[in-house]
Amino acid sequence: MRILGIETSCDETAVAIFEGDRASGKGRVLSERIASQIETHARFGGVVPEVASREHLIALPMMVEGVMKEADCGWSDIDHIAVTSGPGLMGALLVGVSYARALGCVNNIPVIPVHHMEGHLLAPGLSEGGLPDFSFITLLVSGGHTMLVRVDAIGEYRVIGQTIDDAAGECFDKSARLLGLSYPGGPEISKLAEHGDAKRFKLPRPLLNQDNLNFSFSGLKTAVMYAVKNHGKFDEQAKADMAAAIETAICDVLVKKSIRACRQESVNRLVIAGGVAANQGLRSMLAKAASDNGMESFLSHPKYCTDNAAMIAYAASLQLSSKVSSPMNWDVQPRCNLPS
Ligand code: KG4
Ligand code: ZN
Repeated sequence: MRILGIETSCDETAVAIFEGDRASGKGRVLSERIASQIETHARFGGVVPEVASREHLIALPMMVEGVMKEADCGWSDIDHIAVTSGPGLMGALLVGVSYARALGCVNNIPVIPVHHMEGHLLAPGLSEGGLPDFSFITLLVSGGHTMLVRVDAIGEYRVIGQTIDDAAGECFDKSARLLGLSYPGGPEISKLAEHGDAKRFKLPRPLLNQDNLNFSFSGLKTAVMYAVKNHGKFDEQAKADMAAAIETAICDVLVKKSIRACRQESVNRLVIAGGVAANQGLRSMLAKAASDNGMESFLSHPKYCTDNAAMIAYAASLQLSSKVSSPMNWDVQPRCNLPS
């Protein structure tokens, strides 16, 4: 079966065609396109919702035409259209969902709503080797979410820990702003951190010593604010050292809590997904900690960590093969919990 995926929840317009096996849902990406709006939003220091919606509207038709051509598909070759229905920016989601519905209506193709975070959660399966056997624990870290999820089957997800305030990606972005770096801050901090000494600035590890699986990153961001203020003028080396300290503090907490989650749940397969999972420091710290603790780690391919449409089409393919039904009546949901 061929599935056209559409993702417009935030500042990337993404479309992809995934060919999946009806029985297993596994398959391959036939074509994909991502149009980033980062340059448009960077001068505002963050995403401007109205601008994001307009950009999606302009980009979508050409992009869909592009992936259809590249995959050598006509509309009769597409069995389903999968679209992100939430969470995300209301206007941005509406553009993707309306476009998907219009295409579905004109071409008589069913439209499947996909939860954006379920897309991220299953995206590691797009990498060589596919998803690990159930059950596994996933550290799901994006710009708006930080959670630990126990995955027992497709559609059977239990959130066992999450942030009580800022998400890890948000902490990267806000701390980067304090250092005068551009949006999005995660990749900028990561680049600078390569040449930095993480020990020069001492930053807290919030909630690390509490015996639970929750996270809190807003205090860390405040600590960065005071450290920046107290230090005075920041030369390039000081910036790199602070970037390294921020990256290490965030990753330290994420990795230790993930290992704790696996122990607590008696699961020895640990997966990492979401935009922050593209962070090289986090990937190597997590892989090492997992192996030191006799656990297996599974890392999403970096291009499937950040927002993309292949993960949306793939999630729909897995749902269809697992007979997970989607609701008859659905609409965009800017805020919604992971299905369970
Ligand atoms: O999953 P994602 O692409 O979009 C959301 O669903 O939010 O995640 C975006 C977040 C941003 O906060 C961005 O700064 C962060 O992922 N990010 C990174 C890196 N690449 C993206 N954070 C740290 N290191 C990276 N290399
Ligand atoms: Zn995302």
